[in-house]
Amino acid sequence: MAVLPSHLMTHSHDYRQRRAHTLSLLTELQQRMAKARNAGGPRAAAKLRKRDKLNARERLERLLDRDGSFLELSPLAAWGQYDDESPGAGCITGIGHVAGRLCVISANDTRVKGGAIYPATADKLVRAQQIARENGLPSVALTESAGANLLYQAELFAMGNRGGRGFANQAQMSAEGLAQVSLVFGSSTAGGAYVPGMSDINVMVRDKASVYLAGPPLVKAALGEDATDAELGGAEMHHTVSGLCDYLAEDDADAIRIGREIIGNLGCSTHHTERRAPKPPKYDPDELLGIVPPDLRLPFDMREVIARIVDGSEFDEFRAGYGDTLVCGIAWIDGYRVGILGNNGPLYSSAAQKATHFIQLCNQQRTPLVYLQNITGFMVGQEAERGGIVKDGSKMVHAVSTATVPQFTVLVGGSYGAGNYGMCGRAYDPRLLLTWPCSKIGVMGGPQAARVMRIVQEAAIRRMGGEPLPSDMADMEATVIAEFDRTADPYYATSRLWDDGIIDPRHTRQALAMGLAAAWNRDVRGAGQPKFGVLRM
Ligand code: COA
Repeated sequence: MAVLPSHLMTHSHDYRQRRAHTLSLLTELQQRMAKARNAGGPRAAAKLRKRDKLNARERLERLLDRDGSFLELSPLAAWGQYDDESPGAGCITGIGHVAGRLCVISANDTRVKGGAIYPATADKLVRAQQIARENGLPSVALTESAGANLLYQAELFAMGNRGGRGFANQAQMSAEGLAQVSLVFGSSTAGGAYVPGMSDINVMVRDKASVYLAGPPLVKAALGEDATDAELGGAEMHHTVSGLCDYLAEDDADAIRIGREIIGNLGCSTHHTERRAPKPPKYDPDELLGIVPPDLRLPFDMREVIARIVDGSEFDEFRAGYGDTLVCGIAWIDGYRVGILGNNGPLYSSAAQKATHFIQLCNQQRTPLVYLQNITGFMVGQEAERGGIVKDGSKMVHAVSTATVPQFTVLVGGSYGAGNYGMCGRAYDPRLLLTWPCSKIGVMGGPQAARVMRIVQEAAIRRMGGEPLPSDMADMEATVIAEFDRTADPYYATSRLWDDGIIDPRHTRQALAMGLAAAWNRDVRGAGQPKFGVLRM
């Protein structure tokens, strides 16, 4: 396999300018992450200390293997929502090793609103479950939650992931043989109570954990009954009377020790690996910082990105001389064979056909796919339409939708229009969708949308016999651009769980390696034969 040549000039002005820009974006990302990590501030920290309790992140760190890595998912979920009172949507989720076993872990963060579930919390937890299920991984819940956030309760019934979907998922995963383990550290009420309720194995901390459908005040109000926390749902009561608690732990650390033992003793996994010995890229991944220009309208070569994330920087490019706005080829990431598709311009018919062919090939050879997005969309205009861009674009969307191998998507730059669909956007269920801090997402760019709106509105006013005022039109354009800019922001997207997190570009290889390792946990070969529908040729 040929080593990719790199033309990146690391002493050039462009490189240094791009690197400085990416580093400034990363500083912003790190500041936002730090804010999320410090949820609740000193007040919440003092409260936990006084109660002799660990916070969610400390529990998680102690649960994970010291030498294993952890891929945190959507750490900035809920960013800019709910008056920013729920950093990370009040929970931490991710994929990591516990007692040598890859698990999906979720932890309620009680530092804000008692670990109450906001709508974005429900979405984030259900997304973590989806990853566990697709990859055949056990789930471990570090539980302590006030249940539904009562101020947002109505939204918890919205379409899709909410209204108790997480409990149905727990039951279905358990039926599929995927262990559901819950470690309960504190008060878990109502929706919070159903997590251990639906788990296969529960550990509860003596004198600290309590699980009930309604706490003492509500029971008093509803039934006139007086009961203490411990009487109503304490760990000891559940261990000796109700049978909800399988293991009684003495404190947080003991619960984590028991949890690790439980995971270590689970039945053996279905690890069918076909792996090469991994080797690092030939080019320094640190240089990933200097590739994407601050102005996303300027082109860059996605091969420079590929060269810094794949083993040995080796890339076997497929049909290199055809449809050159899309780079396709086979490479290895951390010893796993993958098919990579990366954008080097808009998708023309030729590029879409090449992609369709390549996706089918990878699917037939049971090779997972990695999509590196920097896409303005499919080509528009008379020539493209007469050339059948709708047909060819649809073929690509068809191939992505029906491929049965695991797919992974990274938003490196722009992600616009149907290009987002063809390159395996969120709705196409990539096993992981990660974004770089310089990425942008939208149906089209703000200026293009503003221009479209102007043309449409001017025509409408003229139809009514009026004459559009240029100043009104300019105001309208400015409003549309501002709104598109606001919603194209990666923080807007990550807050709403449109991705699985914004990552440091230098961690792309490790993040993909973790996703591939997780995907291998459920036998790729057994994932079903390729099932394509009819491709409209
Ligand atoms: N929805 C929204 N906010 C909630 C909440 C809920 N379900 N439960 C707690 N909160 C808020 C409190 O108002 C408080 O807000 P503040 O920080 O702005 O003052 C914060 O969370 C912490 O609550 P507090 O009671 O001070 O903390 P605690 O650690 O002593 O107790 C609980 C935590 C969860 C035991 C307790 O708050 C509780 O019992 N909450 C109600 C749980 C419930 O009945 N849920 C039903 C869901 S259907």
